[in-house]
Amino acid sequence: MSDLITVSDDLTFALANRHFAYVFRVSPEGILEHLHYGGPLGEPLNVQAHHRRTIRHVASTFQGGRHYSLSDTPQEYPGFGTSDYRFPAVHGRNADGNTVFSLHYHSHKIVDDKPALKGLPSSRGGRSQTLIITLQDKLHQLRVRLHYTIWEDHGVIARSVRFKNLSDKEIQLQHAFSTALDLPSGDYEIQHFHGTWAREFNAERIPVPQGRFVADSARGTSSTAHHNYLAVLQKGATEDFGRCYGTTLVYSGNFAISVERGEFEDVRVLAGINPFNFHWRLKPGKSFTTPEALHAFSGAGMRGLSAQWHGFIREHVTPERFRDTPRPTYLNTWEAAYFDVDENKVLDLADTAVDIGVDMLVLDDGWFEGRGDDTSSLGDWRADRERFPSGIPDLAAKVRAKGLKFGIWFEPEMVNPRSQLFTDHPDWILHVPGRVPSLGRNQLTLDLSRPEVQDYLFEQIDAVLSCGDVDYVKWDMNRNMTEVGSAALPASRQRETSHRYMLGLYRLLDRLTEAYPDVLFENCASGGNRFDLGMLSYMPQGWISDMCDPIGRLAIITGASHLYPLDVTAAYIGPSPNHQNGRISSVRTRFLAGVFCAARGVSLSEADIEAHRDEIAAHMAFAKATAPDMIGGRFERISSHGNEIAWQYTTADEQTVYLAYFHILSGPNQPFRRARLVGLDPDAQYRLDDGWDDTLGAPIDGEPESYRGDALMHSGLAMPQVAVGEKSPGVRYMPDGDFSAQLFVLRRQPG
Ligand code: DGJ
Repeated sequence: MSDLITVSDDLTFALANRHFAYVFRVSPEGILEHLHYGGPLGEPLNVQAHHRRTIRHVASTFQGGRHYSLSDTPQEYPGFGTSDYRFPAVHGRNADGNTVFSLHYHSHKIVDDKPALKGLPSSRGGRSQTLIITLQDKLHQLRVRLHYTIWEDHGVIARSVRFKNLSDKEIQLQHAFSTALDLPSGDYEIQHFHGTWAREFNAERIPVPQGRFVADSARGTSSTAHHNYLAVLQKGATEDFGRCYGTTLVYSGNFAISVERGEFEDVRVLAGINPFNFHWRLKPGKSFTTPEALHAFSGAGMRGLSAQWHGFIREHVTPERFRDTPRPTYLNTWEAAYFDVDENKVLDLADTAVDIGVDMLVLDDGWFEGRGDDTSSLGDWRADRERFPSGIPDLAAKVRAKGLKFGIWFEPEMVNPRSQLFTDHPDWILHVPGRVPSLGRNQLTLDLSRPEVQDYLFEQIDAVLSCGDVDYVKWDMNRNMTEVGSAALPASRQRETSHRYMLGLYRLLDRLTEAYPDVLFENCASGGNRFDLGMLSYMPQGWISDMCDPIGRLAIITGASHLYPLDVTAAYIGPSPNHQNGRISSVRTRFLAGVFCAARGVSLSEADIEAHRDEIAAHMAFAKATAPDMIGGRFERISSHGNEIAWQYTTADEQTVYLAYFHILSGPNQPFRRARLVGLDPDAQYRLDDGWDDTLGAPIDGEPESYRGDALMHSGLAMPQVAVGEKSPGVRYMPDGDFSAQLFVLRRQPG
């Protein structure tokens, strides 16, 4: 591996590979000045600063420096109070009671590979180098270590910060962002993702305003309201044009990602723990580590940026154990029976699962002591004796004896006031003295910052998993936090509770996933309320949304795909009329909306399954046969005309190319659409395979048997029309009116 990090004698640092270059230097005053982040450079040390020392009337000059103002200087880790008026990356209170820290270069080192972060999930190293820059505030003896990791094969950079109080007096941290990125002045847009329950990942694009835009969460989860991912795009960037900078966090709690255009028009991106309601007491000799932030760059538009993220997340974030493992198809009991589950019903559903040919039966909510609805029992993780008289291990063994895998649902972080756990330990919840704790879905949040709570949850889950017959756990979390306080912390540390909660959760997940490395964990939080790279570090897949209506889900998958590869997602055929929005849609469209998710299944009542048995069985057979294809390939957004969406998925071996086309509302005189595919071998031949179902029909008159890659990419494939009345010869039609979907399978021909 060649050097990914170079340093000049006068302390200019360059992190560079074939995807990007990131360059900064130490100024004569000892300030880390950012120089370049963008396209790759042959000689990255030889780059010009995009700022100059100049007379700025009005600007303050930095601590005696001539014409040197931090307010127009791009920096690597800016503070406040020493001539920069923009929002700082670090802010705190020193022993003198003021908030002025001044961080200067002290030393640096380069290490091969990547040290893990203490107590926090972080991306894995491998063919990487890490630059550690030590900054110091000499007056208050605060040491700040900036970590930068670059990988040989990815357009991604990881950043985190470790603070250490070297003084003999307490320092209080109020902002401790994980990264700061100062981009030069220019026309940019912000792309961020917002939503709510069952409506996650809506993309919004807005010009970078003069002022400050913040996507954040103070809910205790990374949240659906504002996802913890944001991209700064060159103005007008499209799927295949423009410089794009993405930023996210390997973290699942309160966060802020902000974009500020300063008075001199340069643009600052900050990402890390939300400074609102955060505070950390750093005692003498103690350290604090921020969560990891990731930046990705592409000079080739949003599709290029997504490709960078997808490859990186697969290779360096999600658990290696499942990276190349095709995911089981499954039948989930939730929409089949909701809370009304018992041993006989589950075994009947297991027979149905065998009948429709899926690999796994998942027992969702409702199985534990007294849980007949959502008003009780969270916390008491013992099987309900009346409904499951022989217990979960026995049930799991019986399900497995039918040739199925067995999966089970937990919501470990929660407790209902009506539960044995709450009766025994009322102080184990997040709460503040003198206030009635607010309920969410009739439940309270356990205080995971407490080791005894973590231990209790480990024991409860371990008691079920230790039978050895559990293959999969759906880990749910169904409310945001309120009255965030811990009975185990002193008054002066109450605002540390949220972050300590996350450290406790990660500790518990570390223990469980180490104890049960072969159990497939699926992350869920009322769908996508905590879908982030922190959780995906432990759990290879996630339930992205409770929206099972296919049209609702199209937008969610499209939005999520900007950051996430689809092999971290699960989807199932849910009921119609849909339980979230009432829409009626075909089984086929319901299946195809999730066709590129790694984990595919069914969650329907026995009667619904019976009514469409053969079709469902055919889809599940297809899902099973293509499960290996849906791992490690390339998902690409091809087009979106509002009423029509096309997605491409190319298998990792590049031998099969799938194209899914969705036509939402039918109508007369629709335009002809073509899908221009991407990333094919221009010289190869691709044969259209009509074998996946019979609606594609036989090749139509005049249609060649196969197409060259260049024709598919540059001229495109004609998309079908929705049949309205009489059909014309030579036109391919889709089977339904509204909400129709078609899947094309193209197989690369040998030679
Ligand atoms: C919310 C999840 O998102 C659903 O899939 C289901 O597991 C319910 N919780 C169960 O209570």
